[in-house]
Order: sequence, then C-alpha cells, then structure tokens
Amino acid sequence: MLTNTVFVTLLALCSGVEFQIQNAANFDIWVGIQANPGHPQLRDGGFDLPAGHKVSVQAPEKWAGRFWGRTGCNANTKHCQTGDCGNKLKCNGAGGTPPATLVEITLKGDQGLDFYDVSLVDGFNIVASIKPSGGQGDGSQYSCKKDACSNHTVINQCPEELKVKNGQGTVIACNSACNAFNTDQYCCRGAYGTPDKCKSSTWPVNYPKFFKDRCPDAYSYAYDDHKSTFTCKAETYVIKFG
Ligand SMILES: *[C@@H]1O[C@H](CO)[C@@H](O)[C@H](O)[C@H]1NC(C)=O
Repeated sequence: MLTNTVFVTLLALCSGVEFQIQNAANFDIWVGIQANPGHPQLRDGGFDLPAGHKVSVQAPEKWAGRFWGRTGCNANTKHCQTGDCGNKLKCNGAGGTPPATLVEITLKGDQGLDFYDVSLVDGFNIVASIKPSGGQGDGSQYSCKKDACSNHTVINQCPEELKVKNGQGTVIACNSACNAFNTDQYCCRGAYGTPDKCKSSTWPVNYPKFFKDRCPDAYSYAYDDHKSTFTCKAETYVIKFG
C-alpha cells in the first residue's frame, strides 16, 4: 500500500498535472473533487479552502474527474448548503448534491489532448473557471483558453421555479430543469435520450437558454452543443471558484 502511494506520488510529480485551486470569493469554500471510475481520488476528494487561498493538487497522468465548490459548510456537522457530498469534508469518491457548478477535465484523452469544460448540467451554485497555464494548443478559439462561468446574475436572476434557498430565504443556487422537474424530456432520457430528440429549443421552457445567455461557454444541459469543450496540452491548470 505504501509502495503504491509512493509510486502514484512519484508518477504525479514526474509526468502528472498540477491543479492550482483558488478561492477568489470572500467566503469559505470546501472544494470537492471526484475522480471518474478507475482513477484515484485526489486529496481524499475534498478540503477546506478559505477565502483568498490557493492550494496545489497533483494528479497522475491520464487522470479524469470533476471539481466543485461547496458553500455554506458547517465545520461541526460537515454539512454544506450547496454541493454537499454527504456531511463530510473529504468526499472520498462521493459526488456533490446538485445544484453545483462543475469543472470537468480529462487528461491525455483522444490524441493526447486534455479536454476540459465548465458544466451547469447539474445546475449552478458558484462562479467557476478553468485555465491552462501555458500549454500547447493550435491557436483556435477553444484551444488552451480559459473556460469560465463568471456571471453572478445566474443566482439573482434565476427563474423562480429553479431557485434554491437556504433556511433564511437567501437564494444559494440555481437548479437545472432536470433536477427541478425530473422529467424524461428535461433530463434527456427515455424517449428523449438522444441528441436529436433532446433539443432544449423544443422544451416547454428553454431553461438552458437562461444559463447559456449568462455563461455561453458552459454546458447547459446533457446534449448541449459540443463547442463548450476546450482542449489543451498543459502541465498546470488554474481552477478558480468565486
Ligand atoms: C450577465 O448576463 C446578462 C444576461 O445575458 C448580461 O446582460 C450581463 O451583461 C452579463 N454580465 C456579465 C458581467 O457578463
């Protein structure tokens, strides 16, 4: 086990990628990290990131997974108002409860490229961005550029039926239509389980448009167009919440 840990650490240092995770908000965030199946959890899946702080997390080559920011966390109960992974600081494989803004990345995928995106498919709880530091791309629009969902109006202009409020009545997140209504159409499943059958423009209410208008470079629903995926080859990615 120890040998394994040492090996994984060495591998990360030699050929892996560094994620610099920043809290740009003026409040405390608990970061959540969930590896995709078959990949190791990084930093046991979560840690406390006080306002203005930055933490460096090493990932092995070919790692894939997601990052999110948990807000309104209680150090005693370990429960967070948004993005909660089951009343614990270290998510250890558990995902965050929607709604939560997700930063997703796959290292060294197709053609050795890293694929990254910001996803609002599970709703929005906090502004987030991911940006390669340096890195090699082909100069095109979605190559080695910053992908961000940084428009704070997503919270205060959130459609009433999608608003998520805390006990004090403050809006703390904006739900996805799938999570709010749980229908096959809004969730792109069953008879709506293919891209051509699940176009948000044909929905009773085009809720993804609300998110897309504010965060054009983020995924807004399961079959959103694929322009929202960025690619790069980089050794460092800066992920910012708040
Ligand atoms: C946020 O989105 C709204 C709606 O599209 C837009 O009017 C506003 O200018 C955006 N704000 C920022 C800071 O981008």
